[in-house]
Amino acid sequence: MTLNTSFRPGQPWLDTDGKPIQAHGGCMLFDNGTYYWFGENKDGENYLDESKGFLHRVDVIGVSCYSSTDLLNWKNEGVVLRSEPNNPQSDLHPSKVLERPKVIRNPKTGKYVLFAHVDTADYEYACIGIAISDKPTGPYIYLGSIRPNGNDSRDMTVFQDDDGSAFLFFSSEWNKTLHIIQLDNEYLRPTQNESRAFIGQSREAPAVFKHGRKYYIISSGCTGWDPNQAELAAADSPLGPWTVLGNPCIGPNADITFHAQSAYVFPLAGNSNALIAMFDRWNKDNLRDSRYVWLPVRFENDQVKIRWQEPWDLTAFK
Ligand code: GAL
Repeated sequence: MTLNTSFRPGQPWLDTDGKPIQAHGGCMLFDNGTYYWFGENKDGENYLDESKGFLHRVDVIGVSCYSSTDLLNWKNEGVVLRSEPNNPQSDLHPSKVLERPKVIRNPKTGKYVLFAHVDTADYEYACIGIAISDKPTGPYIYLGSIRPNGNDSRDMTVFQDDDGSAFLFFSSEWNKTLHIIQLDNEYLRPTQNESRAFIGQSREAPAVFKHGRKYYIISSGCTGWDPNQAELAAADSPLGPWTVLGNPCIGPNADITFHAQSAYVFPLAGNSNALIAMFDRWNKDNLRDSRYVWLPVRFENDQVKIRWQEPWDLTAFK
């Protein structure tokens, strides 16, 4: 087995079994000394769903989990939330959509709570699915899906603040406007603490992070699997108001987010100044071969910069 010694954005990324990592639209959880990378397992056949405008898709397999202590070498922990082939009514039936899984640990209940965009193949169902587990590596028990406070929800993420409060961010109103809703203490229900942001601006693929006292969000425009320009915004509170700051990407193809789309931003364990941005380089004709673009997030004179670098390693933060 060859060890990975650097991040190679856009290159195939093999797990410790030598197989390509299947964790698209993912997120990162640091728990008890280990990083867990969750994402969509898209290791199936591509086809066009003609129900609505020829959407490229693979049938739902489930949410994968990988573990690592160095962020470079990942052990496959398996599919921790599986599709349900025998139940056509289930949100998790292979014919449906299961995207952008996000997992956080609830410090009060000790449960690991998984949120994901669940949908029908035509993207009309537009809900958030919720599942829980006693361990990061699952199995996750599916609790069901919600339209948070009655709102349609497609691309989504969850942000957990230092004080334990957690917020859903989701593209709503047919993707035109982003909604933000605080979760209750158990992280299982939305509260009435909510706001709308980027009204009529059609933002999706939200990735939310905090640095110092500022909150940031990176999002994409709405062009399906095809890349477009990323946009950064900042706020003093997760509920906003959010101020648009422009494109944080620098380097070749920065105007199309290095041929990729935002998924998640996370700090290194024990170093809140060192953050990594995770992007997906989708391959819509062969979604299982979509690649990962991870890059360091820089704070330069109070500005957030994400520069193309290939290869790179964690000494970039020294
Ligand atoms: C993108 C979205 C992806 C997926 C895709 C389907 O805009 O960010 O998560 O839903 O559309 O076409």
